[in-house]
Amino acid sequence: MDGKTLAVRAIGRPLDRFDGPAKVTGTARYAFEHPVDRPAYLFPVQATVAVGRIVAVHTEAALAEPGVLAVLTHENAPRVASTDDAEMTILQTPEVAYRGQFVAAVVAETSEAARRAADLVGVDYRTGPHDVELRPDHPDRYAPAVVNGGFATDSVHGDPEAALAEAAVRLDATYTTAWYQHAQIEPHATIATWAGDRLTLYVGSQGVHRLRDSLATLFGLEPERIRIISPYVGGAFGGKLHAHPDVVLAVLCAFAVPGRPVKLALTRQQMFSQVGYRTPSFQRIRLGAGRDGKLVAVSHEAVQQTARHKEFAEQTVTPTRVMYAAPHRSTTHRMVRLDVPVPTIMRAPGKTPGMYALESAMDEMAIACGQDPVEFRIANEPPVDPELDLPFSTRNLVACLRDGARRFGWAGRDPTPGVRRAAGGWLVGTGVASSVYPVYQLPGSSATIRLEPDGRYVVSIGAADLGTGTWTTLAQIAADALAVPVERIDLRIGDTALPPAMAAGGSSGMTSWGSAVVEAARRLRAREAAEHVDGIPASGIEAAADMPENPDRERFSMYAFGAQFAEVRVHEATGEVRVPRLLGVFAAGRIINPKTGRSQLLGGMTMGLSMALHEQCVLDPRFGHVVNHDLANYHIATNADVGTVEVHLLAEDDPYVNPMGSKGIGELGIVGTAAAIANAVQHATGVRVRDLPITPDRFF
Ligand code: MOS
Repeated sequence: MDGKTLAVRAIGRPLDRFDGPAKVTGTARYAFEHPVDRPAYLFPVQATVAVGRIVAVHTEAALAEPGVLAVLTHENAPRVASTDDAEMTILQTPEVAYRGQFVAAVVAETSEAARRAADLVGVDYRTGPHDVELRPDHPDRYAPAVVNGGFATDSVHGDPEAALAEAAVRLDATYTTAWYQHAQIEPHATIATWAGDRLTLYVGSQGVHRLRDSLATLFGLEPERIRIISPYVGGAFGGKLHAHPDVVLAVLCAFAVPGRPVKLALTRQQMFSQVGYRTPSFQRIRLGAGRDGKLVAVSHEAVQQTARHKEFAEQTVTPTRVMYAAPHRSTTHRMVRLDVPVPTIMRAPGKTPGMYALESAMDEMAIACGQDPVEFRIANEPPVDPELDLPFSTRNLVACLRDGARRFGWAGRDPTPGVRRAAGGWLVGTGVASSVYPVYQLPGSSATIRLEPDGRYVVSIGAADLGTGTWTTLAQIAADALAVPVERIDLRIGDTALPPAMAAGGSSGMTSWGSAVVEAARRLRAREAAEHVDGIPASGIEAAADMPENPDRERFSMYAFGAQFAEVRVHEATGEVRVPRLLGVFAAGRIINPKTGRSQLLGGMTMGLSMALHEQCVLDPRFGHVVNHDLANYHIATNADVGTVEVHLLAEDDPYVNPMGSKGIGELGIVGTAAAIANAVQHATGVRVRDLPITPDRFF
């Protein structure tokens, strides 16, 4: 508009992450590492019963320990202003809702003194009966009002029962997924300071403004009196979006020692009861098809758990509402309240467990219909969104399946199971599954851009970088919107002192923040053009903008799609499963940065492999706790577990999703991976494993 054109645009370039050097040299500060004066250290005391009422707390021995500054219990802890969120309402009553709940806390001069004194706090309980076991036929299962994301609990189209009864080919199978624990590399940590009636927090957060607002409500403080600083986050995956008891406890203790920064870093063991997890699920899927391999009916029923003290209902059957064409369809969620910690969102909530079940069932049905699994999916491609009856802004699932099949070498695959062998007693198989994730845009983001005298542009927005690459990709978006080289962008994120931004959730960050940044840039360029002095743009000018509404969201259904292919080896003597090769092809609009984008999808697929083969919380029903509460026993895939992982990105031009043409990719990569592996395991062995993880005992 003012003659500035760039030979090289920033979007689409595989730039190294700008924060990379700081991270690898250890100078990027994570929550616990921010330097503060005279810190005090906090160590929690956790309930040793699953249900009960505290009848006495003995704090004398702890208080007598050298260096102890305070011992908080439900009797003396500061009162909260709102008890609406039962998960956050801690140390307010003597009731215990789950084993591991915080029931007291010690603040001391050193972390060692705090931990030692916490051991000396005695708690007497009156216990009651508890129920921590999810069963598909649990007598107390109920239908929640809505499920996470505001989706309908149930949906019915046509007459699925009649259609299923009449279908020429039928499948009725139940799949289960495990309890998956949030286990980020950076455990949840907080530094909380209450000084001069102001609360300052350093905490790894997916959204500082959202966290600030929930703490403001909880404690009855004006939001302006709370500042939250979170420049770097060491992994989040949904576990650092909602406030959990750890940050609340740090604030309660900060009130108890005003002026002193209180530091809390959860131990790995504490993580397993405090920061949320993905609910286990039982999923019954019924499919009916004609002899031609066209689906006529789909039914997907999920039974999952929530906590008795607070509901979280995962939207597990929602992908079944959008994936395949069938005139008759029914989907339902049922919940069971248990005496357990509150489940929460985890990478692609709903889509990840739901697509494991649906894509396993699609594989079983393809086999039952005598069809190739790739072709079976293509044959059931819907012309429009089956639930909303809206056209897709772009839908390139078929292209992903075809491109993936070509790259993977799918053509000519013999569907006979259990007949391919590799040296050493390994059975070899291949499998495929589809991937899907919505393009969300969440309201509540604003950006400001200021042109500095040195010609640099300061772009401010309270966005988050969870390790995903925001520091780099949002600068790329700003650079193109301003038509300047990316080197001239000074991005500021991760602080409530910046303009408010919606949290990084639902893979919506780039769409929401990017739309606000592009709009602020448009306004700034208009002002630049208007305020030229002798042809030189005035410095010191600033523009602010809220994220504009996107009217196209009413006209189109917006999703990213992908296809995942897996090659597995299953040892015929031991049942060990190896995955030498994963290949994913994704169509996710314009890719802002192919390097960080590839890493996101690679990470998602790896997490999906981990879900397929390894991850599983084991609960002791007698006591209600996760027994394998550390990374030695809760195994997460390591390098040795991961073979070749290929990520391919299809070019996709979607003019409707947002001004960048991008779709979220933080969650897409995990969706479908576990099904592709399970399907490959069936191809290798002839054994259909319907329960994750696929451990060796499943084969014998
Ligand atoms: Mo993601 S689980 O929506 O933070």
